[in-house]
Amino acid sequence: MIELYLDTVDINQVSRLNACLPLKGVTTNPSILAKAGRGVNHVLPELANVIGSEARFHIQVVSQILDEIVDEAFKINSLPYDIVVKIPATETGLAAIKKIKQQNIPVLATAIYSVQQGILAALSGADYLAPYVNRMDTMGNDGIKVVSDLQLLLTQQDLDCKLLPASFKNTLQVIEVMKLGVKAITIPVDIAIQMLEHPAVDSAVQQFSQDWINVFGDKLSFES
Ligand code: G3P
Repeated sequence: MIELYLDTVDINQVSRLNACLPLKGVTTNPSILAKAGRGVNHVLPELANVIGSEARFHIQVVSQILDEIVDEAFKINSLPYDIVVKIPATETGLAAIKKIKQQNIPVLATAIYSVQQGILAALSGADYLAPYVNRMDTMGNDGIKVVSDLQLLLTQQDLDCKLLPASFKNTLQVIEVMKLGVKAITIPVDIAIQMLEHPAVDSAVQQFSQDWINVFGDKLSFES
């Protein structure tokens, strides 16, 4: 089954959606944590408490110099959770990924805006790739096509690397990406809620209820 993540550290929304969805865990980035005004050491215990000890967290380095990225990655990895270290897929980032993978630390290459960038990150050893679907779309690129081409290349090259597409602004983008057979995905809270809702559903449920009450009153199904 696809690994399903929420791209948020909003504990209330994670709790709400974890109740009805098979969440694998949560993805974060420096902007998400900065917007929440809460750091890794504050959010991880709370999120693990809500999702469970099996939860997987994707945590991004903020260092930009090779040795510092590597050092930060080791320290993130030493936190007592199932953690994947996110590293931007720049030239320096790929060099860091090569070094970090020698120690078998799980890595996600993030900020992927092209097939070229993504396949090189996979060849450098990344376990996950995060192509930014909507950001590519808004730049005039075709985010879905980039994910499709990357999926094809990963399969053809027999690379042990999962696509974990990120950056969605509508539910169709999510479905189109899932149809490509990606093994993981991270969805923002508002899009996940939109996927759960449909204007016709409430009225359908209401009609079932009214039809039932008209004939059976307050009896339950097994009492009828
Ligand atoms: O981690 C990357 C992802 O959160 C980007 O999403 O909505 O900022 O384009 P967005």
